[in-house]
Amino acid sequence: MNILDPSIVRYLHSLTPPRDATLQEMERIAAEKRFPIIGPLVGRLLCQLALLTRAQTIFELGSGYGYSAIWFARGLQPGGRIICTDGSGANAALAARFFRQARIEGLVDYRTGDALSLLAEEPGSFDIILNDVDKHEYPEVFRKAVPRLKKGGLLITDNTLWQGRVVGDDDAPSTAGIRAFNRLAFQSEDVLTTIIPLRDGVALSIKR
Ligand SMILES: C[S@@+](CC[C@H](N)C(=O)[O-])C[C@H]1O[C@@H](n2cnc3c(N)ncnc32)[C@H](O)[C@@H]1O
Repeated sequence: MNILDPSIVRYLHSLTPPRDATLQEMERIAAEKRFPIIGPLVGRLLCQLALLTRAQTIFELGSGYGYSAIWFARGLQPGGRIICTDGSGANAALAARFFRQARIEGLVDYRTGDALSLLAEEPGSFDIILNDVDKHEYPEVFRKAVPRLKKGGLLITDNTLWQGRVVGDDDAPSTAGIRAFNRLAFQSEDVLTTIIPLRDGVALSIKR
């Protein structure tokens, strides 16, 4: 199922300015390897949200090779920092090259391992946490990430409409995980959540 009509997606892309050489190369790799990056429409939203919240501390759960982190870095306050996490050492190595190219290597601390364990090991609270790990983990992410947000901070969760599978009878663990996450996020008193039906559905949960 298309979340947005394809003609609307084409229109949004036609409005979106070309990216710099680094982001374009990352987008080319994503297309070639079918690697699920957030893409430029959501990338611009991440940059806006960092600007809007005057973000100084961002924690990414599931950073891939750094595409979402580069968009965040462009909205980060001076002196701010981003902690990236991913289970793949190959992604970490590729990200290091792209962060150097984008001249943001000084802002980013990339850690390899299980994202939720790495969050538990890191002290402090965050202006933004990005949730983009395996989808069956989403309910656990909600429970572990919300307490780590500052008041007014944002949990940003990608793929919350899951190509429309959330409304069908698909009972795959990924789909079930996203449905459970969405219920938690909408029912919780600790956050106020909306889903923006952009690309694959981006949930924004603001900490009360
Ligand atoms: C959708 S991709 C991330 C894309 C990235 N946020 C972007 O838009 O550029 C998901 C990534 O999360 C990683 N991942 C999934 N579950 C994880 C976990 N529990 N701990 C660490 N990394 C995980 C995968 O290795 C993969 O690289």
